[in-house]
Amino acid sequence: MAERMKVLVTGGAGYIGSHTVVELVAAGFDVHVVDNFCNSERWILQRLATLCGREIPHTELNLLDEAALQACFAAVKPDAVIHFAALKAVGESVQQPLRYHRNNVGGTLALLQAMQDHGCQHLVFSSSATVYGNPESCPIREDAPLGATNPYGQTKLVMEHVIRDLLAAPGSLLRAAILRYFNPAGAHESGLIGELPRGVPNNLVPFVAQTAAGLRAEISVFGDDYPTRDGTGVRDYIHVVDLAQAHVAALRALRDGGDREITVNLGTGNGFSVLEVIEAFSRAVGRPIPHKRVARRPGDSAECWADPALAEKVLGWKASRGVDAMCADAWRWQQGLSDTPTAARR
Ligand code: UFG
Repeated sequence: MAERMKVLVTGGAGYIGSHTVVELVAAGFDVHVVDNFCNSERWILQRLATLCGREIPHTELNLLDEAALQACFAAVKPDAVIHFAALKAVGESVQQPLRYHRNNVGGTLALLQAMQDHGCQHLVFSSSATVYGNPESCPIREDAPLGATNPYGQTKLVMEHVIRDLLAAPGSLLRAAILRYFNPAGAHESGLIGELPRGVPNNLVPFVAQTAAGLRAEISVFGDDYPTRDGTGVRDYIHVVDLAQAHVAALRALRDGGDREITVNLGTGNGFSVLEVIEAFSRAVGRPIPHKRVARRPGDSAECWADPALAEKVLGWKASRGVDAMCADAWRWQQGLSDTPTAARR
């Protein structure tokens, strides 16, 4: 293998992908981004060039275009793949299950085929705590029962299974890290990259950020009668830069030997309620943010937070940024968005 590992990052212009590109380059990896920009912006590549001090090579393609994907592998010759590219809106997945399975599962099959055909042996896969369905108890360990409550979650479970089947195949040389993210939030501290939801955000933190910026009138707090300390839902919010650094740690762990399969939770081990997140964001902004209590959102669980011990043991990684840094960084990014081509199109 090349001294300097070359890493193909699918979905590298997306939210978690872009932050991971920055950390990979800082750690000395060569990076090639693949993205079809179906839920990301081309101008993010310029921001990446600024942050990385060099252009980041990229190929615009859809993973379902197998000929284009194979040509990309032949040209780039990656040593490793970090696979982020996927659709991720839970509600949309209920409306469009075929599209979710075709895109997420189909794209992953094409990618794994290209890796096999081109002798690429290292895979870091973007999974989710959604594979635990409605958790029986918290903190959640990796050996907790699996199950999905919506088609998006099903696609993550299926993709995990396919990767495990490939790992178990006779003669397989694949080495894979399956990373189950809890609730990624925040932005790069430079304010240059962050989350860019299209339309009304599904997730709490971008909705809070847009409300703080005056783009939304008020936040709806979905349910205040859960059996939690203040009645609102509790989640494990992990700073996106911590998450990005975990991908670098996973790649190193795969490269440097040890287990051929790594499956770990990426969370902080701390739960925050919806009201606590709104309060933390208000501190970052310096004024209260309007919110009202409404009915529960169907499908939500009361609490979901990680036992992150295995990730620390296997990757030598643990989250270091707290919820206040997360909100301050998300707010810096939100404020800078008015100067971007995306804001101009709103
Ligand atoms: N919430 C609100 N108001 C909002 C949005 C969210 O009160 O406008 C609440 C939710 O009810 C929940 C918490 O804020 O208690 C977090 O909600 P998110 O939608 O931000 O995140 P979820 O935990 O529901 O979902 C996340 C990912 C999914 C993944 C799931 C399980 O977004 O992709 O975790 O791992 F499937």
